[in-house]
Amino acid sequence: MSLRDAMSCFATGVTVVTARYQDADWGMTCNSFNTVSLDPALVLWSVGRSSHSHEAFVKGGGYLVNVLEQSQAGLAQQFSRGTQAQRFAGLQGERAASGRLRLPRAVAWFDCRLWQVLPAGDHDILIGEVQDFGTGPGRGLAYARRQFGTVEPLPA
Ligand SMILES: Cc1cc2nc3c(=O)[nH]c(=O)nc-3n(C[C@H](O)[C@H](O)[C@H](O)COP(=O)(O)O)c2cc1C
Repeated sequence: MSLRDAMSCFATGVTVVTARYQDADWGMTCNSFNTVSLDPALVLWSVGRSSHSHEAFVKGGGYLVNVLEQSQAGLAQQFSRGTQAQRFAGLQGERAASGRLRLPRAVAWFDCRLWQVLPAGDHDILIGEVQDFGTGPGRGLAYARRQFGTVEPLPA
């Protein structure tokens, strides 16, 4: 078993992070999202340094995290490959006040100003200060051992 295989055992939620950079929308599937601090309100995720969208997320001033709903595994796949135009094709999102795109049916969203960039090996950790946020109905999509799933509460 590789290190990557072992890391994949850690179950997470799934997000699509969006940015607005050079008058274009950027988006990427991300499961490294995590909450950090309530006061100030900070979150983080890590972006691969070799990612084509790395520059947009580091230089775009901030990012918007869309926490995907359990029926959105297809959207997670759509935002992990292809061109940016292909990823956003046909999507009817709404724009946050920052101009960043909110995807339909997300169970939560966090619009963040970039607060700090921490270089960390082959990724950069992007700490964001939450400027605006909201929630929707439904349960979040889960991801473990490279498979999408749902989270059901245990019986009481
Ligand atoms: C479930 C899942 C989670 C992912 N999480 C991350 C992540 O946290 N950080 C990251 O840089 N890439 C992550 N990726 C991979 C990126 O989505 C993918 O490398 C990126 O969209 C490639 O496109 P780009 O090079 O045009 O940016 C994840 C992919 C999947 C399917």
